[in-house]
Amino acid sequence: NDDKFKKVIAHAKEYGYVFQSSEIYDGLSAVYDYAQNGTLLKNNIREYWWKAMVQMHDNIVGIDSAIFMHPTTWKASGHVDAFNDPLIDNKDSKKRYRADVLVEDYCAKIEAKINKEINKAAKRFGDAFNEAEFVSTNPRVLGYKEKIETILKRLGKSLENEDLADVKALIEELEIADPLSGSKNWTDVKQFNLMFGTKLGASAEHATDLYLRPETAQGIFVNFLNVQKTGRMKIPFGIAQTGKAFRNEIVARQFIFRMREFEQMEMQYFIKPGTQKEWFDYWKKTRLSWHQSLGLGEKNYRFHDHEKLAHYADAASDIEFNFPFGFKELEGIHSRTDFDLKQHEEYSGKKMQYFDPEDNTSYTPYVLETSIGLDRMFLAVFSNSLQEEALDNGTTRTVLRLPAVLAPTKAAVLPLVKKDGLPEIAKQIVESLKWDFNVAYDEKDAVGRRYRRQDAVGTPFCITVDHDTLEDNTVTIRHRDSMEQKRVSIEDLKDLIKAEVNM
Ligand code: GAP
Repeated sequence: NDDKFKKVIAHAKEYGYVFQSSEIYDGLSAVYDYAQNGTLLKNNIREYWWKAMVQMHDNIVGIDSAIFMHPTTWKASGHVDAFNDPLIDNKDSKKRYRADVLVEDYCAKIEAKINKEINKAAKRFGDAFNEAEFVSTNPRVLGYKEKIETILKRLGKSLENEDLADVKALIEELEIADPLSGSKNWTDVKQFNLMFGTKLGASAEHATDLYLRPETAQGIFVNFLNVQKTGRMKIPFGIAQTGKAFRNEIVARQFIFRMREFEQMEMQYFIKPGTQKEWFDYWKKTRLSWHQSLGLGEKNYRFHDHEKLAHYADAASDIEFNFPFGFKELEGIHSRTDFDLKQHEEYSGKKMQYFDPEDNTSYTPYVLETSIGLDRMFLAVFSNSLQEEALDNGTTRTVLRLPAVLAPTKAAVLPLVKKDGLPEIAKQIVESLKWDFNVAYDEKDAVGRRYRRQDAVGTPFCITVDHDTLEDNTVTIRHRDSMEQKRVSIEDLKDLIKAEVNM
Protein backbone atom coordinates (compact mmCIF):
# COMPACT_ATOMS: atom_id res chain seq x y z
CA ASN A 1 0.00 0.00 0.00
CA ASP A 2 3.05 2.19 0.20
CA ASP A 3 3.01 2.15 -3.56
CA LYS A 4 -0.64 3.10 -3.70
CA PHE A 5 0.04 6.03 -1.40
CA LYS A 6 2.96 7.20 -3.54
CA LYS A 7 0.68 7.05 -6.58
CA VAL A 8 -1.92 9.14 -4.78
CA ILE A 9 0.65 11.83 -3.98
CA ALA A 10 2.08 11.82 -7.51
CA HIS A 11 -1.40 11.94 -9.08
CA ALA A 12 -2.42 14.81 -6.80
CA LYS A 13 0.49 16.80 -8.13
CA GLU A 14 0.31 15.81 -11.78
CA TYR A 15 -3.39 16.61 -12.12
CA GLY A 16 -3.33 19.94 -10.25
CA TYR A 17 -4.78 18.89 -6.90
CA VAL A 18 -2.06 19.34 -4.25
CA PHE A 19 1.41 20.89 -4.43
CA GLN A 20 4.06 20.95 -1.78
CA SER A 21 4.24 24.43 -0.27
CA SER A 22 7.15 26.61 -1.47
CA GLU A 23 8.29 23.76 -3.69
CA ILE A 24 10.92 25.85 -5.50
CA TYR A 25 12.68 26.22 -2.13
CA ASP A 26 12.46 22.45 -1.56
CA GLY A 27 9.19 22.74 0.31
CA LEU A 28 8.18 23.30 3.90
CA SER A 29 7.61 20.24 6.02
CA ALA A 30 3.95 19.23 6.47
CA VAL A 31 2.64 22.32 4.66
CA TYR A 32 0.81 21.98 1.33
CA ASP A 33 -0.89 24.16 -1.26
CA TYR A 34 -4.14 23.27 -2.98
CA ALA A 35 -3.89 23.66 -6.73
CA GLN A 36 -6.48 24.58 -9.35
CA ASN A 37 -8.48 21.35 -9.11
CA GLY A 38 -7.73 20.68 -5.45
CA THR A 39 -9.19 24.02 -4.45
CA LEU A 40 -12.45 23.19 -6.20
CA LEU A 41 -12.61 19.72 -4.65
CA LYS A 42 -11.92 21.18 -1.23
CA ASN A 43 -14.59 23.88 -1.70
CA ASN A 44 -17.07 21.23 -2.77
CA ILE A 45 -16.37 19.04 0.27
CA ARG A 46 -16.76 22.07 2.54
CA GLU A 47 -20.03 22.98 0.87
CA TYR A 48 -21.31 19.41 1.09
CA TRP A 49 -20.61 19.45 4.83
CA TRP A 50 -22.08 22.92 5.30
CA LYS A 51 -25.31 22.03 3.51
CA ALA A 52 -25.77 18.88 5.57
CA MET A 53 -24.95 20.53 8.87
CA VAL A 54 -26.31 24.09 8.56
CA GLN A 55 -28.73 24.32 5.66
CA MET A 56 -30.51 21.06 6.48
CA HIS A 57 -30.81 21.70 10.24
CA ASP A 58 -33.06 24.61 11.16
CA ASN A 59 -31.50 24.73 14.65
CA ILE A 60 -27.87 24.95 13.48
CA VAL A 61 -26.30 28.23 12.37
CA GLY A 62 -22.84 28.98 11.03
CA ILE A 63 -20.23 31.53 12.04
CA ASP A 64 -16.72 32.47 10.94
CA SER A 65 -14.64 33.48 13.95
CA ALA A 66 -11.13 34.94 13.82
CA ILE A 67 -7.97 32.85 13.88
CA PHE A 68 -6.48 35.19 16.49
CA MET A 69 -8.18 35.03 19.85
CA HIS A 70 -7.54 36.65 23.21
CA PRO A 71 -4.62 34.72 24.74
CA THR A 72 -6.62 33.86 27.88
CA THR A 73 -8.85 31.71 25.64
CA TRP A 74 -6.10 29.10 25.49
CA LYS A 75 -5.55 29.11 29.23
CA ALA A 76 -9.26 28.51 29.73
CA SER A 77 -9.45 25.81 27.07
CA GLY A 78 -6.55 23.90 28.62
CA HIS A 79 -4.32 24.18 25.54
CA VAL A 80 -1.60 26.14 27.32
CA ASP A 81 -1.18 23.39 29.89
CA ALA A 82 -2.14 20.22 28.06
CA PHE A 83 -1.24 20.43 24.38
CA ASN A 84 2.34 19.36 24.31
CA ASP A 85 5.27 17.84 22.40
CA PRO A 86 8.38 16.02 23.70
CA LEU A 87 11.57 18.02 24.15
CA ILE A 88 15.08 16.95 25.20
CA ASP A 89 18.22 18.93 26.13
CA ASN A 90 21.81 17.90 25.70
CA LYS A 91 23.56 18.41 29.03
CA ASP A 92 26.93 19.30 27.50
CA SER A 93 26.01 21.56 24.58
CA LYS A 94 22.87 22.89 26.36
CA LYS A 95 21.13 22.61 22.99
CA ARG A 96 17.42 21.74 22.94
CA TYR A 97 15.87 19.29 20.45
CA ARG A 98 12.56 17.69 19.65
CA ALA A 99 13.11 14.17 20.94
CA ASP A 100 11.03 12.64 18.16
CA VAL A 101 12.92 14.59 15.49
CA LEU A 102 16.24 13.25 16.80
CA VAL A 103 14.92 9.73 16.35
CA GLU A 104 13.50 10.54 12.92
CA ASP A 105 16.83 12.02 11.82
CA TYR A 106 18.54 8.84 12.99
CA CYS A 107 16.15 6.88 10.76
CA ALA A 108 16.89 9.23 7.86
CA LYS A 109 20.55 8.28 8.21
CA ILE A 110 19.66 4.60 7.87
CA GLU A 111 17.59 5.55 4.84
CA ALA A 112 20.69 7.19 3.36
CA LYS A 113 22.55 3.90 3.80
CA ILE A 114 19.83 2.17 1.79
CA ASN A 115 20.32 4.68 -1.00
CA LYS A 116 24.05 4.06 -0.94
CA GLU A 117 23.47 0.32 -1.38
CA ILE A 118 21.14 1.02 -4.30
CA ASN A 119 23.67 3.28 -6.02
CA LYS A 120 26.42 0.73 -5.52
CA ALA A 121 24.35 -2.08 -6.99
CA ALA A 122 23.16 0.08 -9.87
CA LYS A 123 26.75 0.73 -10.82
CA ARG A 124 27.65 -2.93 -10.54
CA PHE A 125 24.72 -4.31 -12.57
CA GLY A 126 24.44 -1.51 -15.13
CA ASP A 127 21.46 -1.78 -17.48
CA ALA A 128 20.32 -5.06 -15.94
CA PHE A 129 19.67 -3.37 -12.58
CA ASN A 130 16.11 -3.58 -11.34
CA GLU A 131 15.74 -1.26 -8.35
CA ALA A 132 12.35 -2.51 -7.15
CA GLU A 133 13.54 -6.08 -7.13
CA PHE A 134 16.84 -5.22 -5.45
CA VAL A 135 15.12 -3.27 -2.66
CA SER A 136 12.66 -6.06 -1.97
CA THR A 137 15.23 -8.89 -1.91
CA ASN A 138 18.63 -7.57 -0.79
CA PRO A 139 19.17 -8.78 2.82
CA ARG A 140 21.14 -5.73 3.90
CA VAL A 141 18.49 -3.32 2.59
CA LEU A 142 15.73 -5.41 4.13
CA GLY A 143 17.56 -5.31 7.46
CA TYR A 144 17.82 -1.51 7.33
CA LYS A 145 14.15 -1.18 6.39
CA GLU A 146 13.08 -3.40 9.26
CA LYS A 147 15.19 -1.44 11.68
CA ILE A 148 13.57 1.86 10.61
CA GLU A 149 10.14 0.36 10.92
CA THR A 150 10.80 -1.04 14.41
CA ILE A 151 12.19 2.27 15.64
CA LEU A 152 9.36 4.39 14.25
CA LYS A 153 6.75 1.98 15.56
CA ARG A 154 8.19 2.17 19.05
CA LEU A 155 8.49 5.95 18.86
CA GLY A 156 4.89 6.26 17.71
CA LYS A 157 3.65 4.03 20.50
CA SER A 158 5.62 5.81 23.22
CA LEU A 159 4.34 9.19 22.02
CA GLU A 160 0.80 7.95 21.82
CA ASN A 161 0.99 6.63 25.38
CA GLU A 162 2.86 9.74 26.50
CA ASP A 163 5.57 7.44 27.78
CA LEU A 164 8.35 10.03 27.74
CA ALA A 165 10.78 7.85 29.69
CA ASP A 166 10.65 5.34 26.86
CA VAL A 167 11.38 8.04 24.27
CA LYS A 168 14.52 8.85 26.27
CA ALA A 169 15.36 5.14 26.59
CA LEU A 170 15.07 4.79 22.81
CA ILE A 171 17.45 7.72 22.25
CA GLU A 172 19.95 6.13 24.63
CA GLU A 173 19.63 2.63 23.16
CA LEU A 174 20.25 3.98 19.67
CA GLU A 175 23.18 5.97 21.07
CA ILE A 176 21.98 9.08 19.34
CA ALA A 177 24.48 11.91 19.69
CA ASP A 178 23.93 15.66 19.74
CA PRO A 179 24.40 16.57 16.03
CA LEU A 180 26.48 19.60 17.03
CA SER A 181 28.75 18.44 19.85
CA GLY A 182 28.60 14.66 19.45
CA SER A 183 27.71 14.32 23.13
CA LYS A 184 25.33 11.55 24.22
CA ASN A 185 24.58 13.11 27.59
CA TRP A 186 20.81 13.76 27.53
CA THR A 187 18.28 15.16 30.01
CA ASP A 188 14.87 13.63 30.55
CA VAL A 189 12.25 14.26 27.86
CA LYS A 190 9.75 17.03 28.70
CA GLN A 191 6.67 18.31 26.94
CA PHE A 192 6.49 21.51 24.90
CA ASN A 193 3.46 23.21 23.48
CA LEU A 194 2.01 22.40 20.05
CA MET A 195 0.57 25.87 19.55
CA PHE A 196 2.28 28.32 17.20
CA GLY A 197 2.99 31.61 18.89
CA THR A 198 3.02 35.02 17.28
CA LYS A 199 2.99 38.64 18.37
CA LEU A 200 0.40 41.38 18.09
CA GLY A 201 1.57 44.99 18.23
CA ALA A 202 4.11 47.25 16.58
CA SER A 203 6.99 47.45 19.04
CA ALA A 204 8.64 44.54 20.77
CA GLU A 205 8.05 45.85 24.34
CA HIS A 206 4.35 46.47 23.84
CA ALA A 207 3.57 43.38 21.82
CA THR A 208 1.10 40.81 23.13
CA ASP A 209 1.89 37.13 22.74
CA LEU A 210 -0.79 35.39 20.75
CA TYR A 211 -1.36 31.86 19.50
CA LEU A 212 -2.63 30.74 16.15
CA ARG A 213 -5.73 28.74 17.07
CA PRO A 214 -5.13 24.98 17.30
CA GLU A 215 -8.87 24.27 16.85
CA THR A 216 -11.84 26.28 15.63
CA ALA A 217 -14.04 25.15 18.53
CA GLN A 218 -13.04 27.90 20.96
CA GLY A 219 -14.29 30.62 18.60
CA ILE A 220 -17.69 28.99 18.93
CA PHE A 221 -17.61 28.60 22.71
CA VAL A 222 -16.74 32.25 23.37
CA ASN A 223 -19.57 33.33 21.02
CA PHE A 224 -22.13 30.95 22.48
CA LEU A 225 -24.24 33.64 24.17
CA ASN A 226 -23.88 36.15 21.33
CA VAL A 227 -25.31 33.66 18.87
CA GLN A 228 -27.93 32.31 21.26
CA LYS A 229 -29.27 35.80 22.00
CA THR A 230 -29.06 37.38 18.54
CA GLY A 231 -30.35 34.25 16.84
CA ARG A 232 -32.95 33.62 19.59
CA MET A 233 -31.80 30.03 19.63
CA LYS A 234 -33.47 27.46 21.89
CA ILE A 235 -31.59 24.50 23.28
CA PRO A 236 -30.80 22.10 21.68
CA PHE A 237 -29.07 24.15 18.98
CA GLY A 238 -25.79 24.05 17.14
CA ILE A 239 -23.11 26.45 15.91
CA ALA A 240 -20.95 25.33 13.00
CA GLN A 241 -17.85 26.74 11.39
CA THR A 242 -15.06 25.85 9.03
CA GLY A 243 -11.62 27.38 9.11
CA LYS A 244 -7.88 27.10 9.46
CA ALA A 245 -6.20 25.64 12.54
CA PHE A 246 -2.48 25.36 13.28
CA ARG A 247 -0.47 22.78 15.19
CA ASN A 248 3.26 22.30 15.41
CA GLU A 249 2.76 18.56 14.90
CA ILE A 250 5.27 15.96 16.07
CA VAL A 251 5.01 13.25 13.48
CA ALA A 252 4.00 15.02 10.30
CA ARG A 253 4.97 12.74 7.46
CA GLN A 254 1.78 11.49 5.85
CA PHE A 255 1.08 14.04 3.12
CA ILE A 256 -2.09 16.01 3.92
CA PHE A 257 -3.16 13.56 6.66
CA ARG A 258 -1.29 15.47 9.36
CA MET A 259 -0.36 19.02 8.53
CA ARG A 260 0.92 21.99 10.48
CA GLU A 261 -1.65 24.30 8.85
CA PHE A 262 -4.96 22.62 8.17
CA GLU A 263 -8.67 23.24 8.05
CA GLN A 264 -11.34 21.97 10.40
CA MET A 265 -15.10 21.69 10.00
CA GLU A 266 -16.59 21.70 13.47
CA MET A 267 -20.03 21.87 15.01
CA GLN A 268 -20.82 22.40 18.67
CA TYR A 269 -24.28 21.28 19.72
CA PHE A 270 -25.52 22.87 22.94
CA ILE A 271 -27.75 20.56 24.94
CA LYS A 272 -29.42 20.13 28.30
CA PRO A 273 -27.20 18.41 30.89
CA GLY A 274 -28.19 14.77 31.21
CA THR A 275 -29.11 14.37 27.53
CA GLN A 276 -25.51 13.93 26.33
CA LYS A 277 -25.67 10.16 25.85
CA GLU A 278 -28.68 10.44 23.57
CA TRP A 279 -27.08 13.21 21.47
CA PHE A 280 -23.74 11.42 21.36
CA ASP A 281 -25.47 8.42 19.75
CA TYR A 282 -27.50 10.66 17.47
CA TRP A 283 -24.47 12.52 16.13
CA LYS A 284 -22.41 9.34 15.71
CA LYS A 285 -25.16 7.92 13.56
CA THR A 286 -25.82 11.15 11.66
CA ARG A 287 -22.18 11.75 10.85
CA LEU A 288 -21.59 8.19 9.72
CA SER A 289 -24.52 8.40 7.31
CA TRP A 290 -23.13 11.67 5.94
CA HIS A 291 -19.90 9.87 5.11
CA GLN A 292 -21.70 6.91 3.64
CA SER A 293 -23.85 9.12 1.42
CA LEU A 294 -20.74 9.73 -0.68
CA GLY A 295 -20.54 6.11 -1.73
CA LEU A 296 -16.87 5.46 -0.96
CA GLY A 297 -17.79 2.02 0.40
CA GLU A 298 -19.41 1.22 3.76
CA LYS A 299 -16.60 -1.16 4.68
CA ASN A 300 -14.12 1.71 4.66
CA TYR A 301 -15.50 3.25 7.86
CA ARG A 302 -15.48 2.11 11.44
CA PHE A 303 -15.97 3.62 14.88
CA HIS A 304 -13.21 3.71 17.42
CA ASP A 305 -14.64 4.42 20.86
CA HIS A 306 -12.09 6.00 23.16
CA GLU A 307 -11.26 4.56 26.52
CA LYS A 308 -8.68 7.16 27.37
CA LEU A 309 -10.49 10.51 27.28
CA ALA A 310 -9.24 14.06 26.76
CA HIS A 311 -9.50 16.34 29.78
CA TYR A 312 -12.74 17.89 28.50
CA ALA A 313 -14.70 14.80 27.49
CA ASP A 314 -17.00 12.23 29.12
CA ALA A 315 -17.28 10.17 25.91
CA ALA A 316 -15.49 10.22 22.57
CA SER A 317 -15.55 8.22 19.39
CA ASP A 318 -13.65 8.55 16.13
CA ILE A 319 -14.94 7.72 12.72
CA GLU A 320 -11.96 5.99 11.16
CA PHE A 321 -11.42 5.65 7.44
CA ASN A 322 -9.45 3.07 5.52
CA PHE A 323 -6.66 5.28 4.13
CA PRO A 324 -3.92 3.80 1.88
CA PHE A 325 -1.89 3.35 5.10
CA GLY A 326 -4.73 1.68 7.02
CA PHE A 327 -7.63 2.71 9.24
CA LYS A 328 -6.99 6.12 10.80
CA GLU A 329 -9.04 8.86 12.46
CA LEU A 330 -11.05 11.00 10.07
CA GLU A 331 -13.55 12.67 12.40
CA GLY A 332 -14.04 12.95 16.15
CA ILE A 333 -17.35 13.01 17.99
CA HIS A 334 -16.86 14.28 21.52
CA SER A 335 -19.18 14.69 24.46
CA ARG A 336 -17.46 17.73 26.03
CA THR A 337 -19.82 18.23 29.01
CA ASP A 338 -19.91 21.83 30.31
CA PHE A 339 -16.10 21.89 30.56
CA ASP A 340 -15.46 24.64 28.01
CA LEU A 341 -18.29 26.99 28.93
CA LYS A 342 -17.51 26.64 32.66
CA GLN A 343 -13.83 27.34 32.02
CA HIS A 344 -14.66 30.46 30.00
CA GLU A 345 -17.02 31.58 32.76
CA GLU A 346 -14.24 31.21 35.27
CA TYR A 347 -11.52 32.92 33.24
CA SER A 348 -13.66 35.75 31.82
CA GLY A 349 -15.84 36.32 34.85
CA LYS A 350 -18.87 36.42 32.50
CA LYS A 351 -21.85 34.14 32.91
CA MET A 352 -22.30 31.63 30.09
CA GLN A 353 -25.69 30.34 31.20
CA TYR A 354 -28.83 29.63 29.28
CA PHE A 355 -32.30 30.36 30.58
CA ASP A 356 -34.62 27.55 29.59
CA PRO A 357 -38.11 29.00 29.07
CA GLU A 358 -39.65 25.53 29.08
CA ASP A 359 -38.93 24.75 32.69
CA ASN A 360 -37.87 28.18 33.95
CA THR A 361 -34.36 27.14 34.92
CA SER A 362 -30.91 28.47 34.14
CA TYR A 363 -28.02 26.16 33.44
CA THR A 364 -24.67 25.87 31.72
CA PRO A 365 -25.37 23.75 28.64
CA TYR A 366 -23.46 20.59 27.82
CA VAL A 367 -21.80 20.34 24.43
CA LEU A 368 -21.69 17.60 21.85
CA GLU A 369 -19.02 18.24 19.24
CA THR A 370 -18.43 16.86 15.75
CA SER A 371 -14.99 17.72 14.40
CA ILE A 372 -13.57 16.71 11.04
CA GLY A 373 -10.41 17.73 9.22
CA LEU A 374 -11.23 19.04 5.75
CA ASP A 375 -7.81 18.06 4.41
CA ARG A 376 -8.16 14.59 5.85
CA MET A 377 -11.57 14.27 4.25
CA PHE A 378 -9.99 15.40 0.97
CA LEU A 379 -7.37 12.65 1.31
CA ALA A 380 -10.06 10.06 2.07
CA VAL A 381 -12.10 11.02 -1.00
CA PHE A 382 -9.12 11.43 -3.30
CA SER A 383 -7.21 8.28 -2.36
CA ASN A 384 -10.32 6.13 -2.43
CA SER A 385 -11.34 7.47 -5.84
CA LEU A 386 -8.04 6.88 -7.59
CA GLN A 387 -8.21 3.58 -9.45
CA GLU A 388 -6.29 1.72 -12.13
CA GLU A 389 -8.73 -0.20 -14.21
CA ALA A 390 -8.05 -3.04 -16.66
CA LEU A 391 -10.05 -2.59 -19.86
CA ASP A 392 -11.49 -5.25 -22.17
CA ASN A 393 -9.01 -4.37 -24.91
CA GLY A 394 -6.07 -5.29 -22.67
CA THR A 395 -5.04 -1.72 -21.80
CA THR A 396 -5.49 0.00 -18.47
CA ARG A 397 -6.89 3.39 -17.62
CA THR A 398 -6.36 5.61 -14.60
CA VAL A 399 -9.66 6.94 -13.39
CA LEU A 400 -10.44 9.26 -10.50
CA ARG A 401 -13.93 8.17 -9.51
CA LEU A 402 -14.73 11.22 -7.40
CA PRO A 403 -18.36 11.40 -6.24
CA ALA A 404 -19.94 13.57 -8.97
CA VAL A 405 -21.24 16.08 -6.43
CA LEU A 406 -17.64 16.76 -5.31
CA ALA A 407 -15.85 16.66 -8.68
CA PRO A 408 -14.09 19.96 -9.50
CA THR A 409 -15.36 20.00 -13.07
CA LYS A 410 -18.71 18.39 -13.82
CA ALA A 411 -18.37 18.14 -17.59
CA ALA A 412 -15.82 18.64 -20.35
CA VAL A 413 -17.01 19.72 -23.78
CA LEU A 414 -14.95 18.33 -26.66
CA PRO A 415 -15.29 19.12 -30.38
CA LEU A 416 -14.45 15.92 -32.26
CA VAL A 417 -12.26 17.89 -34.67
CA LYS A 418 -10.91 21.45 -34.68
CA LYS A 419 -12.82 22.50 -37.79
CA ASP A 420 -16.17 22.54 -39.61
CA GLY A 421 -17.72 24.77 -36.94
CA LEU A 422 -17.55 22.10 -34.22
CA PRO A 423 -15.38 24.17 -31.80
CA GLU A 424 -17.87 27.03 -32.06
CA ILE A 425 -20.79 24.81 -31.08
CA ALA A 426 -18.75 23.26 -28.24
CA LYS A 427 -17.92 26.72 -26.93
CA GLN A 428 -21.58 27.71 -27.06
CA ILE A 429 -22.40 24.66 -24.94
CA VAL A 430 -19.74 25.69 -22.42
CA GLU A 431 -21.26 29.19 -22.30
CA SER A 432 -24.73 27.82 -21.63
CA LEU A 433 -23.67 25.35 -18.94
CA LYS A 434 -21.19 27.43 -16.97
CA TRP A 435 -23.94 29.36 -15.17
CA ASP A 436 -24.86 26.17 -13.36
CA PHE A 437 -21.62 24.30 -12.87
CA ASN A 438 -17.93 24.22 -13.62
CA VAL A 439 -17.29 23.02 -17.18
CA ALA A 440 -14.10 22.65 -19.20
CA TYR A 441 -13.36 22.92 -22.90
CA ASP A 442 -10.69 20.78 -24.53
CA GLU A 443 -9.84 20.49 -28.23
CA LYS A 444 -6.24 19.25 -28.07
CA ASP A 445 -5.28 15.67 -29.13
CA ALA A 446 -7.42 12.78 -30.35
CA VAL A 447 -10.74 12.43 -28.57
CA GLY A 448 -9.70 9.14 -26.93
CA ARG A 449 -6.75 10.84 -25.25
CA ARG A 450 -8.97 13.67 -24.10
CA TYR A 451 -11.36 11.13 -22.52
CA ARG A 452 -8.43 9.58 -20.61
CA ARG A 453 -7.29 12.98 -19.43
CA GLN A 454 -10.75 13.79 -18.08
CA ASP A 455 -10.95 10.31 -16.47
CA ALA A 456 -7.70 10.97 -14.64
CA VAL A 457 -8.76 14.39 -13.46
CA GLY A 458 -12.12 13.02 -12.29
CA THR A 459 -14.62 14.77 -14.60
CA PRO A 460 -17.86 12.76 -14.48
CA PHE A 461 -19.07 13.64 -18.01
CA CYS A 462 -17.59 14.29 -21.43
CA ILE A 463 -19.76 15.89 -24.06
CA THR A 464 -18.60 15.39 -27.62
CA VAL A 465 -19.71 17.56 -30.51
CA ASP A 466 -19.43 15.85 -33.91
CA HIS A 467 -20.71 16.29 -37.46
CA ASP A 468 -24.12 14.84 -36.61
CA THR A 469 -24.52 17.70 -34.15
CA LEU A 470 -24.67 20.05 -37.13
CA GLU A 471 -27.66 18.12 -38.48
CA ASP A 472 -29.77 17.39 -35.40
CA ASN A 473 -28.41 19.36 -32.40
CA THR A 474 -27.50 16.20 -30.52
CA VAL A 475 -24.20 15.37 -28.81
CA THR A 476 -22.61 12.28 -27.26
CA ILE A 477 -22.47 12.23 -23.50
CA ARG A 478 -19.95 9.81 -22.02
CA HIS A 479 -19.99 8.67 -18.39
CA ARG A 480 -16.59 8.55 -16.68
CA ASP A 481 -17.29 5.44 -14.59
CA SER A 482 -19.11 3.17 -17.04
CA MET A 483 -17.60 4.75 -20.18
CA GLU A 484 -21.10 4.38 -21.58
CA GLN A 485 -22.03 6.81 -24.33
CA LYS A 486 -25.47 8.15 -25.12
CA ARG A 487 -26.83 10.46 -27.75
CA VAL A 488 -28.77 13.36 -26.25
CA SER A 489 -30.11 16.66 -27.38
CA ILE A 490 -28.10 19.77 -26.44
CA GLU A 491 -31.06 21.36 -24.70
CA ASP A 492 -31.42 18.38 -22.33
CA LEU A 493 -27.77 18.50 -21.18
CA LYS A 494 -28.22 20.83 -18.26
CA ASP A 495 -31.02 18.88 -16.55
CA LEU A 496 -29.36 15.58 -17.28
CA ILE A 497 -26.06 16.58 -15.65
CA LYS A 498 -27.79 18.38 -12.78
CA ALA A 499 -29.73 15.25 -11.93
CA GLU A 500 -26.62 13.11 -11.89
CA VAL A 501 -24.44 15.43 -9.83
CA ASN A 502 -27.18 16.00 -7.22
CA MET A 503 -27.33 19.75 -7.67
N1 GAP B 1 -12.15 20.54 18.63
C1 GAP B 1 -11.76 19.18 18.78
C2 GAP B 1 -10.55 18.83 18.02
O1 GAP B 1 -9.88 19.69 17.49
P1 GAP B 1 -9.04 16.81 17.27
O2 GAP B 1 -9.32 15.35 17.37
O3 GAP B 1 -7.77 17.33 17.83
O4 GAP B 1 -10.29 17.50 17.98
C3 GAP B 1 -10.35 17.02 15.04
O5 GAP B 1 -9.17 17.25 15.76
C4 GAP B 1 -10.07 16.61 13.61
O6 GAP B 1 -9.21 17.56 13.00
C5 GAP B 1 -9.35 15.28 13.49
O7 GAP B 1 -10.26 14.22 13.48
C6 GAP B 1 -8.66 15.42 12.14
O8 GAP B 1 -9.54 15.09 11.08
C7 GAP B 1 -8.37 16.90 12.06
N2 GAP B 1 -6.95 17.17 12.39
C8 GAP B 1 -6.40 17.28 13.62
N3 GAP B 1 -5.09 17.55 13.53
C9 GAP B 1 -4.79 17.60 12.21
C10 GAP B 1 -3.60 17.84 11.46
N4 GAP B 1 -2.45 18.11 12.05
N5 GAP B 1 -3.67 17.80 10.11
C11 GAP B 1 -4.84 17.57 9.49
N6 GAP B 1 -5.99 17.34 10.14
C12 GAP B 1 -5.98 17.35 11.48
